[in-house]
Amino acid sequence: MRIWGISDLHLSFSCDKPMHVFGEHWQGHDQKMAASWDASVGADDVVLCPGDLSWALKLPEAALDLAWIAARKGRLKILTRGNHDYWWSAIGKVRSALPETLVALQNDAVDLGEVVVAGSRLWTCPGALDWDAHDEKIYLREVERLRLSLVEGKQKAQGRPLLAAIHYPPFDKQQRSTAYSELLEEFGVKMCVYGHLHGRRAHRTAFEGDRNGVRYHLIACDHLQFAPITVWPLAPSVQEVASSSESEKLSALRPGGPFTTGSSPGGDEIVQP
Ligand SMILES: [Fe+2]
Ligand SMILES: [Fe+2]
Repeated sequence: MRIWGISDLHLSFSCDKPMHVFGEHWQGHDQKMAASWDASVGADDVVLCPGDLSWALKLPEAALDLAWIAARKGRLKILTRGNHDYWWSAIGKVRSALPETLVALQNDAVDLGEVVVAGSRLWTCPGALDWDAHDEKIYLREVERLRLSLVEGKQKAQGRPLLAAIHYPPFDKQQRSTAYSELLEEFGVKMCVYGHLHGRRAHRTAFEGDRNGVRYHLIACDHLQFAPITVWPLAPSVQEVASSSESEKLSALRPGGPFTTGSSPGGDEIVQP
């Protein structure tokens, strides 16, 4: 089993929300995602999609977008809520509306056998691009929700690797630690995917790579040029590749490794989703 990640799908099959207003690179983004997703993800693989899934306002309106995700390759897709997922109401209702291969995480964790995945939406954090003083209360609440999720994840994992899928970045705009990243470290999370950041300016603020034992990936779809990336098993780190032999370096350059970051097309001057 491989685990893939792509977030911020921003689908809108039931409402009129043209995404190219956020930059020409968003034109036909659902088709680009479907083509790369179905060509790369295997039938036994799992895909992490942490948030901003659908522009729908109500749960029934999200049905077509959820069906699109369900139709993609992979045995399971693990979803968390994003700040734009207004359709995501009470978790029981969301779960009962989901097609069979979709799993909704909300401050809890799912056991995938080889690994356990915890997941939570989070919120902006002090020092982030979109932070203002009114966010403090929600930030503190979301820290506790992340803790709940990690407590359950660690309990389920029983020593197996614990991964995390969150919507908001766990660092501020200067890539400094927050209570979110400290929790991820405290619980020994091996790999964390996050989204929410769109456009070159925001992507430049993102931390990706290894820090205090956690591998981080920004998986907002525009950062990935609308193609999911493999996030587990972990690819060798840049440091590991640098210290390896020539033949090991060559094999690390094949698909699946080494760890690389996405590149970010356009979108600097336009207000982003
Ligand atoms: Fe978002
Ligand atoms: Fe988004």
